[in-house]
Amino acid sequence: TVPSAVQLILFGAAGDLAHRKLIPALYDLHREGHLPDEVDVVGVDLQEMDPAAFVEFSCDAADSLGRFFPRDADADNWAAFSERLSYVQGDATEPETYARLGEHLEKVGPKGERPHRVFYLSVAPFLVESIVKNLAEAGLLDDVERDRFVVEKPFGRDAESARQLDRVLLGTADEGQVYRIDHYLGKETVQNLLAFRFANALFEPVWDARYVDHVQITVSETVGVEHRGGYYEGAGAMRDMVQNHLLQLLCLVAMEPPVAFKADEVRNKKVDVLRAVRPVTRERVHEVAVRGQYGEGFLRGERVPGYREEPKVAKRSATETYAALKLEVDNWRWHGVPFYLRTGKRMPRRVSEISVQFRPVPHRAFPSGADEAFQPNRLVLRIQPDEGIVLRFQAKRPGPQMLLQPVAMRFDYDEAFDTPPDAYETLLLDAIRGDATLFMRADQVEAAWQVVDPVLEAWAESPPAEFPNYAAGTWGPAAADRLLARDGRSWSEPLPSDPIPPG
Ligand code: BG6
Repeated sequence: TVPSAVQLILFGAAGDLAHRKLIPALYDLHREGHLPDEVDVVGVDLQEMDPAAFVEFSCDAADSLGRFFPRDADADNWAAFSERLSYVQGDATEPETYARLGEHLEKVGPKGERPHRVFYLSVAPFLVESIVKNLAEAGLLDDVERDRFVVEKPFGRDAESARQLDRVLLGTADEGQVYRIDHYLGKETVQNLLAFRFANALFEPVWDARYVDHVQITVSETVGVEHRGGYYEGAGAMRDMVQNHLLQLLCLVAMEPPVAFKADEVRNKKVDVLRAVRPVTRERVHEVAVRGQYGEGFLRGERVPGYREEPKVAKRSATETYAALKLEVDNWRWHGVPFYLRTGKRMPRRVSEISVQFRPVPHRAFPSGADEAFQPNRLVLRIQPDEGIVLRFQAKRPGPQMLLQPVAMRFDYDEAFDTPPDAYETLLLDAIRGDATLFMRADQVEAAWQVVDPVLEAWAESPPAEFPNYAAGTWGPAAADRLLARDGRSWSEPLPSDPIPPG
């Protein structure tokens, strides 16, 4: 349940994430009646802004999505919400800021009951430790039940630095107060993986090595690195996407059924998957991992620059904008089933999907020539866009002969449901309610680093000779195709959204 009095404190309130996601998400939660009457949204940032300017900044943020109309149709809602907004200018590394913040929270907050407080750290990673220490020293994290904070990735840059960060966080706060966000987990279609797998009797019996040949997880983006070169140069696709979003998808596909939908139960089952991933040894890195960097190319007919020409990117940058990985989960269920993961920027299409490829039937008794088009069953869980589920199976093509043809059966979110809330709405509300199920626990983060660390180390030791090695607007480097070809497989082309493909 939502507490009756809540204060949300946004560090980095004048920043990009606040503008694009957090403020619009809070506003929509307010419009939908999910926030209590006693709510305060307090922006904190270094930037000088008077309260009116912060209201205007927030209005612009809500307006910019094109979904809400704070300036006209929604004006009444907006007026009510904007009354709850306030701003504290300050340097997040200075204790003095926290003294003022504490007084401000007392002043704007409800008089009787002590509100729950969610501190959202939408800030550069180097500020996180300092903010948490300062909050603790100012007594703002004292109430273990009511005070919590949300941290954005990156959680370190390898297992060791993640542990170091946790030592600081957990030295000042309780694990129950730390909400590590991975916004993929807030996506409706990602949560639906649990419903799909564990609320249907049909799929679970075939969800193992006896029936599944392999699984492919693709998260491709058309965008380049945009204005984030400064951050991305030190990250790369493996740290930016694989260590968190893709490995979380892997966990949801591969985990054992939870006994209850409780935060620790679900997270225990997920961490089991990461711990079962066969460690990649140094010698095997080149066999199981591929990196790429986009050069200039064409997207939708337009020329786009290569990564090395992007702002704040080194001219001889060795940062990967594409990563592919073959993983094996060494447990009873998944013995011998490879999981192929890939993600990249400047790919031909924006698609996140999980494709479960089933084994062929053991015996095909059809007349010769009937089954030339045969393709094994494939189940595609489309995370975004065109959210849905597609099952491919064989049908008899109508006509005098027995000819097989793969066809598709499709479930479409858009047709079945209203527009789902944004991932940040779900996660913000969960943080307010104190439900950590969709947040990352320290051991999950560390286990995920342990999966990718050997690859990152090997890559750091031998910089790529051939970067850039894929043109913007293509599906990544040729080596990624060879990764699957070695196993006699190939990447399945993500399904076009419309019309339903025959195969
Ligand atoms: C972020 C990454 O976590 O996820 C970005 O830092 C990436 O590089 C983004 O673009 C993708 O998120 P979504 O929700 O657009 O798939």
